[in-house]
Amino acid sequence: MSTVVSSPKTDWHAHVWRCVSCGADATDPGDGGPIVCPSCGHQYPIRDGIVVVRESVTANNEVAQSFYNSPLWPKFRFWEWFTFINLGGERRARSRVLKHLPQGENLKLLDIAIGDGVYLPWLPESWSVVGVDVSDVQLDACLKKNAVGRDVTLVLGEAEDLPVRDNQFDAALSIGAFNYFNDPEQALREMVRAVKPGGLIVVSDEVPDLTDYLPFRKIGLAGVERWLVSRFMNLGDEFTEMVERHRELDVEAIARRVLTDCQFERIWRGVGYVFVGRAPE
Ligand SMILES: C[S@@+](CC[C@H](N)C(=O)[O-])C[C@H]1O[C@@H](n2cnc3c(N)ncnc32)[C@H](O)[C@@H]1O
Ligand SMILES: [Zn+2]
Repeated sequence: MSTVVSSPKTDWHAHVWRCVSCGADATDPGDGGPIVCPSCGHQYPIRDGIVVVRESVTANNEVAQSFYNSPLWPKFRFWEWFTFINLGGERRARSRVLKHLPQGENLKLLDIAIGDGVYLPWLPESWSVVGVDVSDVQLDACLKKNAVGRDVTLVLGEAEDLPVRDNQFDAALSIGAFNYFNDPEQALREMVRAVKPGGLIVVSDEVPDLTDYLPFRKIGLAGVERWLVSRFMNLGDEFTEMVERHRELDVEAIARRVLTDCQFERIWRGVGYVFVGRAPE
């Protein structure tokens, strides 16, 4: 891995940090050394250009971390790509989500579960992006592919406990992860905290009961469905079991509890959703 020295480009970049141990404000010294909490002394190293906030995670977040760090994800991604092709291409399909982001230059965007940031090149170049993810493999790919030449700061950490101060961002975005966060509602509350009052929040994922599009469960062949998703499509056993456990998740109810002016829409011919709302003023 290459070594990239962190260099806050502006005061904002240096002062965006919050200690997840004690909640105090923290500052990036900009010399490549760790961000040190002035209150509890907790240190957040900057490793290969990524701010390391939390490496060891539990429950669903651990299942996701193992999957996205493993060779299964590139194999499973074929099916994501295949779906997008059937929806008119990846850029077009993703624009159903990205079009909800605010317009304007020099905006500050928080991207939760940024992965390899495949859509970063489609966002205005003047934007400052902070991306959080539990997978260091995905963050490394993001840094080397899609963040090159852009103002993107990457953080290894969890959606449920963001290492950023309150009211910092114009908008928050999360695509492809919300259903299986350890605590989706807490993650949404964290996005609300991080954006400015009235700031936009845009969240999209597949519908939790997506596998109903396969006919097997309905005719009593849940095992066939499980095999197809886990082995043939390469989601793996643990992730497949996690998907099964969340089939009843009521995403719309969560969104309406937390956001004001919330719009919920099914997209991608019903296989996905996007909800958009504002942080309460
Ligand atoms: C399907 S990928 C989506 C990546 C990107 N947003 C996209 O649309 O291409 C899901 C990402 O969510 C991340 N993830 C899952 N649970 C997370 C959590 N609790 N906090 C932060 N990231 C998480 C995974 O590591 C993975 O990179
Ligand atoms: Zn602290």
